[in-house]
Amino acid sequence: MCGIVGYIGKNQDIRMGIEALRRLEYRGYDSAGAAWYNSDKKDIFLVKKAGRIDNLEKAIQESNLVSSGNPFILHTRWATHGGVDDINAHPHSDCKNEIFLVHNGIIENYQELKEKLIKEGHKFCSQCDTEVLSHLIEKYFQGNLEEAVRKALKEVRGTYGLAVISKKDPGKLVAARLSSPLLLGINQDEILVASDPSAVITHTRQVINLDDNEIAVLKPENFFILKEKPVIQIEWTAEEAQKGDYPHFMLKEIMEEPEAIENAIRGRLIPEEGQVKLGGLSSVEKKLREINRLLLVACGTASYAARTGEYMLEEYAGIPTEIDIGSEFRYRKPIVDKKTAAIFISQSGETADTLAALREMKEKGTMALGITNAVGSTQSRETDAGVYTRSGPEIAVASTKAFIGQLITLALLTVYFGRQRDMALVMGQRIVSELAKLPELARKVLKQAPEIEKIAKKYKDCKNFWFIGRKYNYPMAMEGALKLKEISYLHAEGVASGELKHGALALIDENFPTIVISPSDSVYEKTISNIQEIKARKGPIIAIATEGNEEIKNLVDDVIYIPKTLEMLTPILSVIPLHLFAYYTAVALGKDIDKPRNLAKSVTVE
Ligand code: G6P
Repeated sequence: MCGIVGYIGKNQDIRMGIEALRRLEYRGYDSAGAAWYNSDKKDIFLVKKAGRIDNLEKAIQESNLVSSGNPFILHTRWATHGGVDDINAHPHSDCKNEIFLVHNGIIENYQELKEKLIKEGHKFCSQCDTEVLSHLIEKYFQGNLEEAVRKALKEVRGTYGLAVISKKDPGKLVAARLSSPLLLGINQDEILVASDPSAVITHTRQVINLDDNEIAVLKPENFFILKEKPVIQIEWTAEEAQKGDYPHFMLKEIMEEPEAIENAIRGRLIPEEGQVKLGGLSSVEKKLREINRLLLVACGTASYAARTGEYMLEEYAGIPTEIDIGSEFRYRKPIVDKKTAAIFISQSGETADTLAALREMKEKGTMALGITNAVGSTQSRETDAGVYTRSGPEIAVASTKAFIGQLITLALLTVYFGRQRDMALVMGQRIVSELAKLPELARKVLKQAPEIEKIAKKYKDCKNFWFIGRKYNYPMAMEGALKLKEISYLHAEGVASGELKHGALALIDENFPTIVISPSDSVYEKTISNIQEIKARKGPIIAIATEGNEEIKNLVDDVIYIPKTLEMLTPILSVIPLHLFAYYTAVALGKDIDKPRNLAKSVTVE
């Protein structure tokens, strides 16, 4: 949420910073800004603009402000405090335009600090909470920037990832973090600071994650942090984070779903033992045998993966499992004991509500496990153990392949926990062998993309959609609806099929289509009854059914087929057409697929 780039080193041209910032645009895109040190003028130049990074780039070109020197700092914003305009865009500066900073997070006591600073004579020009930081640093500045930052941050309540420069202490960039991700990209003759590894990947794959309350001082030739820190290697390449020939990242990422499955299972299946190998859990393997209750916590799309996990873990591993969304869980009073383990699921590993729930559990001494895609993320550092989904970089705001990676990981965990308990060898073998077949089956589903596109075009002018499903596919109904609303802005809700008659049915008419997820599973016949109920009220139906089911064609308007697999794994196949349906609908409506309005990829504020 919001993107930060800071640079100090051999490169003198702000366009390099713009290029890095573009790779963070998916984190927020209301406005963007840059401030850079010009060594000839011994001054810092500032340009900021509402709208996308293109606007910023154009404004810099038109400004005729020469960029020869650094450090520079840049920001792409997802507004929290203060409207979307040039003034509220970052960087923000002090009264004398000597100190400039970019900030991610929220300063919760900004109002109180602002009033105090105004009384002391500071002049504010924006409504943004961040501006108090620049004035606070100005207040404490006596020639040494890091000292001033340190003192200022003592007064702050809230969260921050910060990059600060000053023309009165040039040749230096100060970075600080509290509950908002920030890392250093280390290269010869240059150091970058960024809120996300995508920004530094074309320069270096060596990164150091800052921890909470850490302040780093960057100079062209070195950097200083109080503590010795491990250098982490980014596992993916810059090319993987490119769109290639695809028109949108979202389509590319949907097309990579079979690969996401392959990556998640690679080296982890032990077919003959009906078992899986999860290296990230080896340190806690013994303790996990004692666990008799699981809590799954996640936000957004990841919470639907968690819901599916609940069905898997209860049915096949026999462990009572409860799920909740991070934003609720953190304020509940969860009843836990030594035999409870909490599993946190997050693509980014940086979602504020999920992290807060994790910290609450750690506070209570509960074992915390993580499922994340981001190596070295805050979640992966704070959990006791975990499993990486290995989905590769996901850039589109709407999560697709990372969601598939989460489902697969939960299926792996089900086998892992199940085999530690009562799951029979043959059942373990069955799940493992079906998991191994999934990449091919997923490819088969993707081949229907042209038909799904036609169906999406047919229904694109409908304003409302129900998505319904039962058991394993109830969470997929919610996921399908979420994807559609996120990127097409159409109204869509996911409903448990059995709940239709308790309200949703009232809205059905010939203009209100329902997408029914109805694989040939243990609840198929019940779902057919729901189809009849909708049809009796003239509602159009798109069904997702198992190959070979010809009967369903007579009952519904359109059918998308998925291959047969184990019931527990059907969501992994049924969700692929739902992702494509949302994508093609949004394309048909001319929406901004990868950067839907008002949303951001990683929600690092509460
Ligand atoms: C945002 C994104 C979603 C994502 C959710 C949770 O809302 O737009 O795609 O599912 O955050 O993110 P996480 O990184 O924790 O999985």
